[in-house]
Amino acid sequence: APSDPDLVARARAAKEKLGDKVFVLGHHYQRDEVIEFADVTGDSFKLARDAAARPDAEYIVFCGVHFMAESADILTGDAQQVVLPDLAAGCSMADMATAEQVAECWEVLTEAGVADATVPVSYMNSSADIKAFTGRHGGTICTSSNARRALEWAFQQGQKVLFLPDQHLGRNTAVRDMGMSLEDCVVYNPHKPNGGLTPEQLRAATMILWRGHCSVHGRFSLDSVNDVRERIPGVNVLVHPECKHEVVAAADYVGSTEYIIKALEAAPAGSKWAIGTELNLVRRLANRFADQDKEIVFLDKTVCFCSTMNRIDLPHLVWALESLVAGKVINRIQVDKETEHFAKLALERMLALP
Ligand code: 13P
Ligand code: SF4
Repeated sequence: APSDPDLVARARAAKEKLGDKVFVLGHHYQRDEVIEFADVTGDSFKLARDAAARPDAEYIVFCGVHFMAESADILTGDAQQVVLPDLAAGCSMADMATAEQVAECWEVLTEAGVADATVPVSYMNSSADIKAFTGRHGGTICTSSNARRALEWAFQQGQKVLFLPDQHLGRNTAVRDMGMSLEDCVVYNPHKPNGGLTPEQLRAATMILWRGHCSVHGRFSLDSVNDVRERIPGVNVLVHPECKHEVVAAADYVGSTEYIIKALEAAPAGSKWAIGTELNLVRRLANRFADQDKEIVFLDKTVCFCSTMNRIDLPHLVWALESLVAGKVINRIQVDKETEHFAKLALERMLALP
């Protein structure tokens, strides 16, 4: 549906009044009505890097989910205030690893005698607490666009990696990109005693994968890939690495949201694509390339939007911007000093990856 013209005008007016005081960042999974007002759009890596690009901006309005706003707060100066237009915009994957569970896991690894040899690598999609844990234990953050480099770095620091919280990104990177075998990976289940693993299993494993997943990408299946190949002969299947291993293994191309956009920009006219990632992005790309004779379809019509990404809508954005105009900062995301210190260590290790 087209956006309410009144709200569009209000967002425009508020942004204009704020001028350089506000910097609006938008993740690729955001609604069109929100993306329209973003000064910068990007994947998680680009947005983490760009958050600090405008140190003069007093306010950073982050159109994305909670962990992204936290990361922006960690990576920007104290004078900059980060706003998340709807505090309910969380991420179910990030919620799958709590600080207590991860501390317990580290104890299990310590008791099995493997903690000293283990380097934590945490996906950006995690809370600031998990990032701080990672920094404290000599590890790094990664995103879907640098997971391989992060793992290569980690294996220079130790013999094993504890990969949090997305088991699929961890497994896909290890197996598809780095040639490890599925047997090198074990899954730590935080809901089972000792993660459901014996000390022997922990000692034998190279990749210890946290049992977390994305509820959106987890719904694409091998059937989704097989069905689309049957329906559209010659189709290129391009999926996000948060998809299950069997989906990634059956796909033609795999990459982050930024990678997906670049791949479609470079695709020749007449080519056909089935995309396995969030629906807002796929729809936007299908519309954008429709007149260039690139057929772009959603990999599986039964999969839905990311409901938390979608919580940021035009009314919430207008509310956030107009509050700032009135001198009131709503929904500020502020990470405490100690957490910030260690989380920043881990984030900076990622930003320094070759
Ligand atoms: P990227 O934009 O880094 O590919 O991340 C996808 C995602 O799920 C963010 O929540
Ligand atoms: Fe989290 Fe998945 Fe939504 Fe990304 S798409 S914010 S990983 S639930």
